[in-house]
Amino acid sequence: MRKPFVAGNWKMNKTISQGVELAKNLAEKRPSNVDADIAVIPPFLAIPSVARALEGTPIRVGAQDVYWEESGAFTGEISCGMLRDAGCSFALVGHSERRHVLGETDEIVRKKLDALLAADMDVILCVGETLEEREADQTNSRLDTQVKSGLQGVSETLLSRVTVAYEPVWAIGTGRTATEEQAQQAHAFIRGLLTEMFGQQKAQAIRIQYGGSVKPSNAKGLLSQPDVDGALVGGAALDADSFTGIIEGARR
Ligand code: PGA
Repeated sequence: MRKPFVAGNWKMNKTISQGVELAKNLAEKRPSNVDADIAVIPPFLAIPSVARALEGTPIRVGAQDVYWEESGAFTGEISCGMLRDAGCSFALVGHSERRHVLGETDEIVRKKLDALLAADMDVILCVGETLEEREADQTNSRLDTQVKSGLQGVSETLLSRVTVAYEPVWAIGTGRTATEEQAQQAHAFIRGLLTEMFGQQKAQAIRIQYGGSVKPSNAKGLLSQPDVDGALVGGAALDADSFTGIIEGARR
């Protein structure tokens, strides 16, 4: 059985002190009897302080992005080693805002994923179709490309460090959530791709999160779908009560 993984991506929100306050609130309010992995993903600057505030709690800290080189003349970038030193155990790669607002290609996403795995860190690989792609019936082909370019050839030992997040671009920050059926359908398709690539046993072990306007009111329905193994939450993760409500939705 896959343990649900609920992660809150704060995006470009929260100063250091606001982030610490949210982290502390969350540590206090988190339902300790829900068997799920919980993580927060603050902006870079808040990571060290948030990680310190969460020390001794099971809440993990991740980063929203990373650069693939270890060090050197890459102005503005942050390496895996720096993230680990600051208290992160994982990072997102290929979030739709990085793909669509900041122009990241599948090739760039793959370099970041490889760098994280080489640094013994975990990865959440985000994939998802745009509205135009869904309407043109290209959802599956888009997912096929993103999942294969993201993971083809990853060694079976490192695969346990990977979570996939299915985030339909049209559902992110729009209040328009995928229906439970749409989510399950896409997740089952992704699981099929993973099975093709890595075999049944490995594919069954990989967690696939859903992301896109997850809220306390829809979390339970989405998270009880057979192939939905958690949530990647944006807006609703910015408040301890609503994020806690989503964690409740992961109760099995
Ligand atoms: P949202 O964002 O929950 O605000 O839709 C999800 C995400 O981008 O991960």
